[in-house]
Amino acid sequence: MDHVIVTKGLCRTFEVGESEVHALDHVDLVVEQGDFVAVMGPSGSGKSTLMNILGCLDTPDAGEYRLLDQAVSAMEDEALSRLRNRYIGFVFQSFHLLPRLTAIENVLLPLRFAQGDVHDSEANGRSLLQRLGLSERMHHRPNQLSGGQRQRVAIARALVASPPLLLADEPTGNLDSKTSVEIMTLFGELNADGQTVVMVTHEDDIAACAKRVIRMRDGKVESDARH
Ligand SMILES: Nc1ncnc2c1ncn2[C@@H]1O[C@H](COP(=O)(O)OP(=O)(O)OP(=O)(O)O)[C@@H](O)[C@H]1O
Ligand SMILES: [Mg+2]
Repeated sequence: MDHVIVTKGLCRTFEVGESEVHALDHVDLVVEQGDFVAVMGPSGSGKSTLMNILGCLDTPDAGEYRLLDQAVSAMEDEALSRLRNRYIGFVFQSFHLLPRLTAIENVLLPLRFAQGDVHDSEANGRSLLQRLGLSERMHHRPNQLSGGQRQRVAIARALVASPPLLLADEPTGNLDSKTSVEIMTLFGELNADGQTVVMVTHEDDIAACAKRVIRMRDGKVESDARH
């Protein structure tokens, strides 16, 4: 099987005043193509720090990260952002949509920074919004959409360039339980189509939608189990 993510001894330490916080403390992780992983653990256990490094938004201060067999941990900022645009779709708890842009404009935004066939990707953006039940909402702005609709726009934006890896940090954290189930059904369908997904959640019933649950504590992987 192809490894999408391989980390070895990943460390990230933050200096806060006189003290050091070991947000990640030697994390070893392998995620294969087609996996669906939920990352759980108490507040402050390092979940977002891990996701930010996996998503090439932050770099480790020790250890190794290989993304699709490329040595991310050795890369400079520019190479890192190229890799991020090409390989990563990131979904955040608070959607991070641009308020002045319509749904379809938000979805197509990443294509401004992408290479390749933009026309194909534009069609992909429209069909993603259709697939996510937003055909009638393409020209609405975020403040004209419900929370669940906003998150679906954010998911379409994350997927528009067909990234091999979808990362989501508490994607249902701002949604009610019914909408959360809809978003998880969507992740399950994407995963069934082969999309590799890694998501953070605090909720057991959300984590139950994944194939594998990793629990973190104090910056370490405490357990790693498949359903
Ligand atoms: N930029 C930063 N500067 C200093 N400390 C930080 C920074 N980012 C995170 N930390 C610290 O690193 C630790 C891990 O934080 P992280 O955000 O990864 O936790 P988390 O598991 O995502 O928590 P939550 O469930 O509350 O989102 C915490 O102790 C946090 O205070
Ligand atoms: Mg977090």
